[in-house]
Amino acid sequence: MTRIAVYVSGSVAAFKAVSLVRILQKEGHEVRIGMTPASTRFVTPNTFYALTHQPVLIDLWQINQSPVPHIELADWTELALVVPASADLIAKMANGLADDAVSSSLLATRAPIMLAPAMNNQMWANPATQRNLNRLIADQKIILTPKTGLLAEGYVGKGRMMEPEDIANQVKNWLAKQKRLVGKVILVTAGGTHEAIDPVRFIGNRSSGKMGLAVVQAALEAGAKVIAVVGQVQVEFPKHPNLTVKKVTTTAEMLATTLDAFKKVDALVMAAAVADFRPAEVADQKIKKQADQDKLTISLIKNPDILATLGAKKDHQIIMGFAAETNDLLQNAQAKLAKKHADYIVANDVSQAGSGFGVATDQVTILQPNIEPKRWPLLSKREVGQRLINLLAKRWQQSK
Ligand code: PMT
Repeated sequence: MTRIAVYVSGSVAAFKAVSLVRILQKEGHEVRIGMTPASTRFVTPNTFYALTHQPVLIDLWQINQSPVPHIELADWTELALVVPASADLIAKMANGLADDAVSSSLLATRAPIMLAPAMNNQMWANPATQRNLNRLIADQKIILTPKTGLLAEGYVGKGRMMEPEDIANQVKNWLAKQKRLVGKVILVTAGGTHEAIDPVRFIGNRSSGKMGLAVVQAALEAGAKVIAVVGQVQVEFPKHPNLTVKKVTTTAEMLATTLDAFKKVDALVMAAAVADFRPAEVADQKIKKQADQDKLTISLIKNPDILATLGAKKDHQIIMGFAAETNDLLQNAQAKLAKKHADYIVANDVSQAGSGFGVATDQVTILQPNIEPKRWPLLSKREVGQRLINLLAKRWQQSK
C-alpha cells in the first residue's frame, strides 16, 4: 500500500513505535525505520530489523547496500512518521538541522511528515518547544498532539504520546483523504493577466498567485491531476508529477489555454484576476511624452470573459469562480454566479484588511445556486484552498 518510514527518536515512548510498526504492516504498508542514536538506548535496532527485514538507518557514516542511506530512505518514503518525536528532534527539524542520519533524512524527504511528540509536560509547555511546533505547522508538518496522561516521571501531565492504535488511525484517515481525488483532473487559473500598452508598459493587477497556488497544492494533496494556467505571479509553483503548469500573459492567452484543456478536466477553479479590458491598440514603440502634453488617453476594449465562456460550455465539469469585490459583495457575487454559469462563486471582499490580493489570508463567502451563502472565517489561503477542494470532493462523492 504505502511506503512509510518511521523515524524513532530518544524518548521512553520509543517502545510504542514497535507496536505501531506491527499495526502498519498488518494494514498492508511497507515500513522502514530510521533511529536516532538516543533512541537505541530505549529499543534495540535488532527489534526493528527483525520486524521489517530491512537495514535500520542509524548512522550517517554506516556502510551498507546504499552509498547514501539517509537519502535513499528519504526518497523511498511516501509518508514519514516521527514516532516518538522528542523535543530535541522537533527543535532540529524546526531549524533545518541535519547533524545525524534521522534529521538529515527528514530534511531531505519530499514526503509529508507526521510527528507524534512525546516528552515531559514542562518541556512540552516551554515556549521554545511551542515556537518550534508552530514553525513545523507553518512548514506543513502534521502534529499529532500528545495527550494528558501518566508520564514516565510518575505524574500526570501533557506530553504523553498518542497510542500506536490512534496514530495508525490518524494515518489511515490521512491516507484516505489524500486519495479522494485520484482520477480527477482539475484546471486552476492563478495570478493576474497583463495587457500591453507598448513594449514597456502594461495594464495589470495586484494578484500574487497565492490563492491559485493554494488550490493547486490542495488538489495535488488530494491525489488529483492539475493543470495550472498561470499569469503573472509572485510565488513559485512546485515541480510535481501530477502538475502541468502553463504560463500565460494576456487574457486572450489564458482563454485559449483554458479552452484547450477544458474538455479533459472535471473541474475549473478560476482564481486568476483577469483583465476585463485591454488597450485597443498596442504601440509598437515606447510611447513618448510630448513637451506640451498633460494628458494621455488610452482607449480600452473589452476582453472575453473566460469563466462565462467556459461556464456556457460545461458538460460534466464543476465550475468554481471567484468574485473580488470592494462593495455590495453578496449582490455582485450572486449576479456573477448566474451570469457566468458557475456552480460556486468564492466571494472575497478585497477592501477588507487581510483579505484578497497579495496577502496570505482570506475571508470568503461561498455562493451556490439556490443555497444560502456560507461565510467562512478569516483563514490562511492554504486552508481556503483545502476547503474549496473539500467542496469539490464532497460533491463528487454525493454524485456517485
Ligand atoms: O492571487 P492572490 O494575490 O492570492 O489574490 C487572490 C485573488 C484576490 C486574485 C482571488 O481570490 C480572486 O478573487 N480572484 C478573482 C479576481 C477577479 O478577477 O474577480 P472578478 O470579480 O473580476 O471576476 C469574477 C470571476 O470571473 C473570477 O473567477 C475571474 O477569474 C473570472 N473572470 C473575470 C474577468 C474575465 N474577463 N474573465 C474571467 O474569467
